Amino acid sequence: MADKKKPKKSAVKKTKKKSAVKSKIKTKAKTTEKAISGYAAGSVDSVISVEDVNRQAKAIAEDIPIERLEKLADGEAFISIENLTAGYGKMEILHNLNLRVGRKQSLCLIGPNGAGKSTILHAIFGFNTIFSGKIFIGEGANRRDITNLSPSEKLSQSGIAYILQDKSVFPGMTVEENLWMGGFLKDKPAEAKKVAEEVFDKYPRLAARRKHLAKVLSGGERRLLEISRALVMNPEVLLVDEPSIGLEPRFIDMVFEILHDLQHKEGKTIIMVEQNAKKSLEFADLGYVLVSGEVAIAGTGDELLANPKVGQLFLGG
Ligand SMILES: Nc1ncnc2c1ncn2[C@@H]1O[C@H](COP(=O)(O)OP(=O)(O)O)[C@@H](O)[C@H]1O
Ligand SMILES: [Mg+2]
Repeated sequence: MADKKKPKKSAVKKTKKKSAVKSKIKTKAKTTEKAISGYAAGSVDSVISVEDVNRQAKAIAEDIPIERLEKLADGEAFISIENLTAGYGKMEILHNLNLRVGRKQSLCLIGPNGAGKSTILHAIFGFNTIFSGKIFIGEGANRRDITNLSPSEKLSQSGIAYILQDKSVFPGMTVEENLWMGGFLKDKPAEAKKVAEEVFDKYPRLAARRKHLAKVLSGGERRLLEISRALVMNPEVLLVDEPSIGLEPRFIDMVFEILHDLQHKEGKTIIMVEQNAKKSLEFADLGYVLVSGEVAIAGTGDELLANPKVGQLFLGG
């Protein structure tokens, strides 16, 4: 586990932070930092070392005005993270981070392992220590500060669902029991069963397996179950961590199709973390490159795909 030091903030940055208009995302490279282990486990087709990726990624960092993030979010954001500094215990992982996603948009977070991508999802869902900054959901009069809500409040009151990275289904339960579990926060258990039926109607592939134990499912079916289970609470926002991890290519396509439908047919807002940068940027409206807990580059998915710096580091080209 990387032992990250709290970065020294310059006086200039502090001044900037106070002005909403002039506020910028910090992108300055920080001083010596320990190498982050585990990058090799990712699926990026590259032979450069973790240290190299981090060094090069920091070198491509751009200054990103808040107005740019707001514009990308199509004006008024549905989810906003404002100057968030967060981490685990006393360890600071995200530094003064800003994020904006419009309603029914999809945002993909890419970047080297250990950059803090999953930590952003954790912070939104309420798994983190938040040192400063705020998280909001909703538009206009419905905009709510959700910074300090617990995960179960996020799920039951704020319409945010977090889809776990892997191995989160209960192997000894049937598919339908797993789905019902997705509704454990509902006031009436019968309600969960009703929504589960709607999910089965939508995914016949899952319906065909409803009486089977989850442990006999294929990798793709299990991922479908993980996503479906989150849908039982009728969330507006889906936080999806590495949906393609460990799947065969045909299932990867299936997962992206499902997420595409959830966004475009059901109007879900999606924030996703993906190692498969190419597929995820093709899928998502927006992409942020995260490096050492800061947003280094932000753009539309297409802009990032066409960005040679992103290409060289994350698209294997
Ligand atoms: N539960 C945890 N407790 C302490 N540190 C953690 C925890 N989870 C992640 N970290 C640390 O936070 C940093 C960012 O991790 P993470 O957000 O998982 O990165 P990414 O998803 O970009 O690969 C890493 O240095 C990692 O070691
Ligand atoms: Mg992660």
